[in-house]
Amino acid sequence: MRIIQQVEEITETARGWLSGGTVGFVPTMGRLHEGSLSLIRAACQECEISVVSIFANPKQLGSNQDWSLTPLFLEEDLEQLRAAGVDVVFIPREEDIYPPYFSTYVIPSGPLAERFEGAISPEHFRGVATSITKLLLLIRPDLVYFGQKDAQQVAIIRQLIRDFHIDVSLRVLATVRDSEGRPLSGRNSRLSPAEQRAALLVYQSLLAGKVLIEQHEYRSAVIEQAITDVVATEPLISLEYVAICDPETFQELPEVRPGALLAIAAQVGTIRLIDNILLRDDGTWQI
Ligand code: PAF
Repeated sequence: MRIIQQVEEITETARGWLSGGTVGFVPTMGRLHEGSLSLIRAACQECEISVVSIFANPKQLGSNQDWSLTPLFLEEDLEQLRAAGVDVVFIPREEDIYPPYFSTYVIPSGPLAERFEGAISPEHFRGVATSITKLLLLIRPDLVYFGQKDAQQVAIIRQLIRDFHIDVSLRVLATVRDSEGRPLSGRNSRLSPAEQRAALLVYQSLLAGKVLIEQHEYRSAVIEQAITDVVATEPLISLEYVAICDPETFQELPEVRPGALLAIAAQVGTIRLIDNILLRDDGTWQI
């Protein structure tokens, strides 16, 4: 496994990809878990060359979000990447990605960028879009992998790829959940045992919505209320939003229809969690 830190070296390496076959890229912020590893394993399986970046992008992390990448985390991450069979790991330094004279941002705009996650942290998607654009330009992959758990991030990236005619295919893989249903996230390790039990209710509230839909209740307001009622039973949860929306535009839907996304964000203790389930076009669920 080759570890690259220099921007010049990844540029030079990417120039040589053409002869090597399909390049699959998984951007990460480190602290890998089974969710990120599922994307990485897919990239290793589906592509001749697999590239993973580890960059705790400061431009998307709010000031209250602790995402320090200690050398210990990094060692563990590298061990897991080696075991998965990754070919190249790109670990740029913050000052190389955002040098002092850095001044050009990619700013997603319009309702998609302003709703839900965009409303809660207006700078977040600017940070994501800017760093992903840079990474795609540097690495020039054929495929780029994202997880469905961050559904609005996926929609933003899909739009970014379209808007800038970026020659890359977007692969979106299902959320990986623990045995009880909680979506895996780097933040879960910071939940206390009581918060972990509460976090389960966030997922179960979405399932309560699913049950209603299966009983032919399609009015979004009724389903959203049912989801809200489930999380309201847990004092550790403070609901931020629940939404039934189009997964591409994040426009709210008055009625559930095939292709609708049920999304939720809640503060559990001091940790912010998001989750979603998707009613696919063929009427089956992606959970
Ligand atoms: O989902 C993440 O971990 C980050 O938003 C990403 C895609 C690596 C961009 O920094």
